[in-house]
Amino acid sequence: MSLEAIRYANGELSIIDQLLLPHQTVYIRIASCEEAWSAIKRMQVRGAPAIGIVGSLAMAVELKSPDTLSQVDSSAKLSAWLGAKWDRLVSARPTAVNLQDSRERMFRLLSTDWSAMDVAGQRLAAVEWLESQLEQDVRSCRAIGEAGANALLQSVEERGLVPPGGQVNVLTHCNTGSLATGGYGTALGVVRSLHNRGRLGRIFCTETRPYNQGARLTAYEIVADGLPGTLICDSMVAAAMASGRVHAVVLGADRIVSNGDTANKIGTYQIAVLARHHSIPFFVAAPLTSIDFSMRTGSEIVIEERPSDELACVAGQRIACRGIDIWNPAFDVTPAELITAIVTDTGVVPPNNVAALAKKLGAEQG
Ligand code: MRU
Repeated sequence: MSLEAIRYANGELSIIDQLLLPHQTVYIRIASCEEAWSAIKRMQVRGAPAIGIVGSLAMAVELKSPDTLSQVDSSAKLSAWLGAKWDRLVSARPTAVNLQDSRERMFRLLSTDWSAMDVAGQRLAAVEWLESQLEQDVRSCRAIGEAGANALLQSVEERGLVPPGGQVNVLTHCNTGSLATGGYGTALGVVRSLHNRGRLGRIFCTETRPYNQGARLTAYEIVADGLPGTLICDSMVAAAMASGRVHAVVLGADRIVSNGDTANKIGTYQIAVLARHHSIPFFVAAPLTSIDFSMRTGSEIVIEERPSDELACVAGQRIACRGIDIWNPAFDVTPAELITAIVTDTGVVPPNNVAALAKKLGAEQG
């Protein structure tokens, strides 16, 4: 059983406060959408799928409360209430698509499958759907883990980077594990699947400055699972690749757009450039829900800029010279041409085929 970053039972939601990791594991209660907004904004919960799940579950908690019952006594009021709550949640962090995606999927259901129900039926259906998002994400992560391990092993063997059946050394960035998802993880799920098959040589995780998700969170998960892992700082990636220590890269995504351009944690783009230079395969692992078919290219993605203190300080201690200007974008966009393949929960696609997925999904949804 992997680390449970999000707990939900009987209408009660709690999350591990990720600001306190790795030194303390403390669960905090989330009793409303406003509390979820604040936890997402402050990064007590972070990682694209995890913020989507916490948003959905907070909505379920509030939708079940007797106070809400009296406010949503008609379908029109329910729809307006949901719209306002989702708008607030989506505003917490702009780059990851997941909250917006949950909002859109829920409204699609309201206008199709749930449209003939009365307001009580719609509220019940909405709660059930919101509550299902946690388990659904764990299933997605497991599928991504298996598909990603297959694709990665095939790629490193075809390139002669490891002998057939040999062990593979993988590099990852930021945190894409149980803490960033419903459990198991996306890119870290691929690493876990490699380990389960006895094919993981070593997982290199970057420190991931400035917020140190790699050093604090990925290292924590690696140690907790007993994986063979090595922490490096972001500026060591080129040296690690040049020395032959790294056979493949796998990392996550906050938003993938139609042409395959991918927004992920700041520093991802430079790792992709380095991987190309060293002829190392570069995989992006994310659920289909991380794909934003409404955007054509990565230039349309809004990149969140975080407070300057997150860069200027380490563990609350100022390290940067006072008076210097600071630019602190939380994400960058990796062009599709640098990505070997995108591993989703419904299979592995080359980045230039992402748009074809939209057609396939459209056909499946009728
Ligand atoms: O700022 P964060 O910590 O929310 O950024 C997280 C990342 O960039 C992850 O790589 C991404 O969300 C994928 S999580 C499975």
